[in-house]
Amino acid sequence: MSKTDFKPGTMVYPLPAVMVSCGHTAEEQNIITVAWTGTVCSDPPMCYISVRPSRHSYDIIKRTGEFVINLTTEKLAKATDWCGVRSGKNFNKWEEMNLTPGEASVVKAPIIAEAPVHIECKVKEIIDLGVHHMFLADVVNVKVDNAYLDPETGKFNLKQAGPIAYLHGNYYQLGQLIGKFGWSVETKKAKKKRKQKESE
Ligand SMILES: Cc1cc2nc3c(=O)[nH]c(=O)nc-3n(C[C@H](O)[C@H](O)[C@H](O)COP(=O)(O)O)c2cc1C
Repeated sequence: MSKTDFKPGTMVYPLPAVMVSCGHTAEEQNIITVAWTGTVCSDPPMCYISVRPSRHSYDIIKRTGEFVINLTTEKLAKATDWCGVRSGKNFNKWEEMNLTPGEASVVKAPIIAEAPVHIECKVKEIIDLGVHHMFLADVVNVKVDNAYLDPETGKFNLKQAGPIAYLHGNYYQLGQLIGKFGWSVETKKAKKKRKQKESE
């Protein structure tokens, strides 16, 4: 197998490109698109976002100590990109992209009502890593859109919302299901049963 070395850089893809909402007052409420984000601990639940200090949102998040990670969808793809190339210094992104600020349950930062999932975060630590500073945060609440909740089972179907992935500068829809957690070690019997169920 022939390989090529690239200089050290960011290559952990695909990623979610999320819209992070912040600000306590209607005047300062803003949205920043962030791809440098992820989960860092399950219990206690913790997430991070890495933001350049030059971003308008940086000072807002630093001062208020709160933000909301809003997951993005095919329908929100244009707004996701737009909020990532325009600054709240010059635009009201809510108005420009027809997005609605809604009330979060625990934090004072707003949710973006049109998103299917809102991860409410309180900043625990700001780590100066270089061009990006990492906001390491506790997840204090997760809010989901009832439209994707099965009323009978209570199961949440995020795939139905049409989540998108960010891959090396491009946005993509998700494809077909190719397996589920643990399927690689499924017993022959369980596999047969599943196949049978799938064909029914
Ligand atoms: C797909 C995408 C991902 C981005 N990821 C980040 C990121 O992880 N961190 C960051 O500081 N800026 C990121 N940006 C750039 C900011 O979203 C952009 O500079 C935005 O205009 C900042 O908004 P603000 O000045 O209103 O805070 C990203 C932009 C796009 C389009």
